[in-house]
Amino acid sequence: MVTFGIVPRVETLSSSGIQSIPKEYVRPQEELTSIGNIFEEEKKIEGPQVPTIDLKDIDSMDEAVRDKCKEELKKAAMDWGVMHLVNHGIPDDLIERVKKAGQAFFDQPIEEKEKYANDQVSGKIQGYGSKLANNASGQLEWEDYFFHRIYPEDKRNLSIWPRTPSDYIEATSEYARLLRGLATKVLSVLSLGLGLEEGRLEKEVGGMEELLLQMKINYYPKCPQPELALGVEAHTDISALTFILHNMVPGLQLFYQGNWVTAKCVPNSIIMHIGDTIEILSNKKYKSILHRGLVNKEKVRISWAVFCEPPKDKIILKPLPEVVSETESPLFPPRTFDQHIQHKLFRKTREELIT
Ligand SMILES: [Fe+2]
Repeated sequence: MVTFGIVPRVETLSSSGIQSIPKEYVRPQEELTSIGNIFEEEKKIEGPQVPTIDLKDIDSMDEAVRDKCKEELKKAAMDWGVMHLVNHGIPDDLIERVKKAGQAFFDQPIEEKEKYANDQVSGKIQGYGSKLANNASGQLEWEDYFFHRIYPEDKRNLSIWPRTPSDYIEATSEYARLLRGLATKVLSVLSLGLGLEEGRLEKEVGGMEELLLQMKINYYPKCPQPELALGVEAHTDISALTFILHNMVPGLQLFYQGNWVTAKCVPNSIIMHIGDTIEILSNKKYKSILHRGLVNKEKVRISWAVFCEPPKDKIILKPLPEVVSETESPLFPPRTFDQHIQHKLFRKTREELIT
């Protein structure tokens, strides 16, 4: 098997023809019981389903129509914290270009992609990468990825963006710009939903200058034993909001009311997550839902996640005074975004030591 440096690429493993996966990719026994065939899971129509929110009326001239649309978005954010957005205002042909560009990058030989390799150990986190084992069990995930900042424009480093295909930079930049506008719109609806001024949450997460958009293209190769592995282990997003595109291959599961629910593939939709940041600011009125990614042996899955994140140290995140009261005490202590990340890592490490 060919490996590059110390990081084995999952794509290399996948294309090597192995029939069983290395033990580092096998999930713990207690987790295996809940991992099924994703294509079978996607067909299930009984039980709760991830809500689909139609944004076509969000700017309607008719106030009642507009309010109804906002109310539905707010409800989905409070109940699920994740939803399919349709009629989101980002042109379908632009989204197709973004997907085509990402796919074309990953279609290149691994040697070409290695030219963009990140170096997590030295803190160079942007670029082409795979998860490093960061705990005693050495647990790994069945995916490779490309990660980079995409907005604001002065915080990008275009020199590390894929030069192949040629449309990559233009399509991704335009998508970032439009997605930033959509984020503002969603944040204003969520602000109003808490009885706040419409610009409040936007300001609380850093505004136009500081809210950072980072794209992670997740590439999940075919897996010979998909019932034993996960593409992404269960987690909640730390972001304020996350927007996700995918290549119409199912994989995402949400932990809702004690069960794993598989997200359907909704044409022309963008999946949106409420992340921990908004959950904290809203004192859990909006939910950051636990989710994970399954893999399969038939089709490569690709997803494009854009994380909208507050600055690491400049803002103290805590439940806003307007959303706490004598009967609703703050559920989170004040922490910077960076402290929140460290707290999560620490908690995870401790859980691993205990189990
Ligand atoms: Fe996530």
